[in-house]
Amino acid sequence: MTVSPPSGVAPGGFASVFNPALFAGKHVFVTGGSSGINLRIAEAFGEHGAKVSINGRKVDKLEAAVKGLREKKIQAEGYAADVRDFAAVDAALGAAHAKFGNIDVLVCGAAGNFPAPVAMMSSNGFKSVMDIDVLGSFNACRAAFERLTRPGVVIAISAPQAQVAYPMQAHVCAAKAGVDMLMKTLAMEWGSLGVRCVSIWPGPIDDTEGMQRLAGDPAVKKKVEALVPLLRFGTKDEVAQLALFLASPAAQYCTGSVYSVDGGMALVGGAMMSQAVQG
Ligand code: COA
Repeated sequence: MTVSPPSGVAPGGFASVFNPALFAGKHVFVTGGSSGINLRIAEAFGEHGAKVSINGRKVDKLEAAVKGLREKKIQAEGYAADVRDFAAVDAALGAAHAKFGNIDVLVCGAAGNFPAPVAMMSSNGFKSVMDIDVLGSFNACRAAFERLTRPGVVIAISAPQAQVAYPMQAHVCAAKAGVDMLMKTLAMEWGSLGVRCVSIWPGPIDDTEGMQRLAGDPAVKKKVEALVPLLRFGTKDEVAQLALFLASPAAQYCTGSVYSVDGGMALVGGAMMSQAVQG
């Protein structure tokens, strides 16, 4: 039986259900915020009144992203730093704090990925992703700690690979499991200080570097879409809306948990997904 997506499912571009002033005066810092899901998250907070600091490794990309945010009338600043370098991250958060004040929401979004089987992966390739994801998230949280508003929120952009094993993704699976456990531990250590720490698991999201690498070919994309229980890829905006909810007072009893926005993809299993990708 062929099931069509229900009509009325808007693949993005829907009006936000949140008050446009929800984050007025708040300061949101996003690592890896120059592009993709993280940039859309930064933009969505800005559209809801926040002052936005974004971090990225490449200065040109970062400057273009800041320019784009400002063109949308968002108060935005960019801070170049490799999240693997604690001194650089600390300096970036220090400068952002000096500019916009205490950080209300920290989004740990910087992540590495490339599809490769373990037998074709060097030790340094594995380490690069572990360092960007796990150490990078630790560095951002550690540097933000003294500069976080209480109550404050930390959101890690993790992935279903944290629990669903995917061939070609050993480094990402290990790294995202580490990121989730970092958030859970911080939720326990920082809960009494009023800081909530959560993870988001985006599934296959359209128009991202990650999905371009995994399912850039339209024929592969079609096969992956057919596996998704909701029969389509998600949008960056749908991930951003979850981030807004988790940072909002509506989620004030949420901490130490993982929230999927994946159309049900994590239920399907990594082997199915990789069969679709590898043909
Ligand atoms: N297959 C196998 N190994 C790869 C690879 C690939 N496609 N891409 C990078 N590597 C290896 C490199 O060979 C190198 O190992 P070596 O020194 O043993 O040769 C190691 O990874 C580091 O690569 P390098 O380019 O020096 O470092 P980097 O710090 O820039 O990190 C990435 C490389 C790929 C991890 C990083 O640039 C990245 O993740 N980019 C994509 C970002 C992205 O897609 N984000 C979305 C996340 S879902």
